[in-house]
Amino acid sequence: MIVCNCFNVRERDLAELATEGRCCLRSVRQATGLGTNCGKCIPQARAVISAQKPALLTSVDLGSTMEMRA
Ligand code: FES
Repeated sequence: MIVCNCFNVRERDLAELATEGRCCLRSVRQATGLGTNCGKCIPQARAVISAQKPALLTSVDLGSTMEMRA
Protein backbone atom coordinates (compact mmCIF):
# COMPACT_ATOMS: atom_id res chain seq x y z
CA MET A 1 0.00 0.00 0.00
CA ILE A 2 1.28 3.47 -0.87
CA VAL A 3 1.66 5.79 2.11
CA CYS A 4 3.05 8.85 0.30
CA ASN A 5 1.80 9.45 -3.22
CA CYS A 6 4.05 12.45 -3.83
CA PHE A 7 7.23 10.41 -3.32
CA ASN A 8 5.83 6.92 -4.01
CA VAL A 9 6.70 5.60 -0.56
CA ARG A 10 5.04 2.29 0.28
CA GLU A 11 4.27 0.70 3.62
CA ARG A 12 6.86 -1.93 2.71
CA ASP A 13 9.48 0.82 2.29
CA LEU A 14 8.76 2.03 5.83
CA ALA A 15 9.17 -1.54 7.13
CA GLU A 16 12.56 -1.82 5.38
CA LEU A 17 13.68 1.53 6.76
CA ALA A 18 12.64 0.43 10.25
CA THR A 19 14.95 -2.59 10.01
CA GLU A 20 17.76 -0.14 9.20
CA GLY A 21 17.01 1.81 12.37
CA ARG A 22 14.96 4.52 10.66
CA CYS A 23 11.85 4.11 12.77
CA CYS A 24 10.80 7.70 13.45
CA LEU A 25 9.04 10.17 11.16
CA ARG A 26 12.01 12.53 11.00
CA SER A 27 14.38 9.80 9.89
CA VAL A 28 11.91 8.48 7.30
CA ARG A 29 11.43 12.00 5.94
CA GLN A 30 15.17 12.45 5.52
CA ALA A 31 15.48 9.14 3.71
CA THR A 32 12.47 9.38 1.40
CA GLY A 33 11.12 12.92 1.32
CA LEU A 34 7.81 11.57 2.69
CA GLY A 35 5.60 14.37 3.95
CA THR A 36 7.73 17.18 2.55
CA ASN A 37 5.46 18.13 -0.35
CA CYS A 38 1.72 18.26 0.41
CA GLY A 39 1.97 16.61 3.85
CA LYS A 40 -1.28 14.65 3.48
CA CYS A 41 0.54 11.39 4.17
CA ILE A 42 1.91 12.35 7.58
CA PRO A 43 -0.98 10.98 9.71
CA GLN A 44 -0.92 7.65 7.87
CA ALA A 45 2.88 7.48 8.03
CA ARG A 46 2.74 8.07 11.80
CA ALA A 47 0.19 5.26 12.17
CA VAL A 48 2.29 2.84 10.10
CA ILE A 49 5.48 3.70 11.97
CA SER A 50 3.74 3.29 15.35
CA ALA A 51 2.32 -0.07 14.31
CA GLN A 52 5.80 -1.30 13.35
CA LYS A 53 7.44 -0.45 16.68
CA PRO A 54 5.98 -3.36 18.70
CA ALA A 55 7.19 -5.80 16.02
CA LEU A 56 10.69 -4.31 16.18
CA LEU A 57 10.77 -4.57 19.96
CA THR A 58 9.70 -8.21 19.75
CA SER A 59 12.54 -9.01 17.34
CA VAL A 60 15.06 -7.29 19.60
CA ASP A 61 13.73 -9.21 22.60
CA LEU A 62 13.92 -12.51 20.72
CA GLY A 63 17.46 -11.68 19.62
CA SER A 64 18.53 -11.05 23.20
CA THR A 65 16.92 -14.27 24.38
CA MET A 66 18.71 -16.25 21.70
CA GLU A 67 22.03 -14.64 22.65
CA MET A 68 21.53 -15.57 26.28
CA ARG A 69 20.87 -19.22 25.37
CA ALA A 70 23.95 -19.55 23.14
FE1 FES B 1 3.31 12.59 0.99
FE2 FES B 1 2.23 14.44 -0.49
S1 FES B 1 1.47 12.47 -0.10
S2 FES B 1 4.02 14.59 0.69
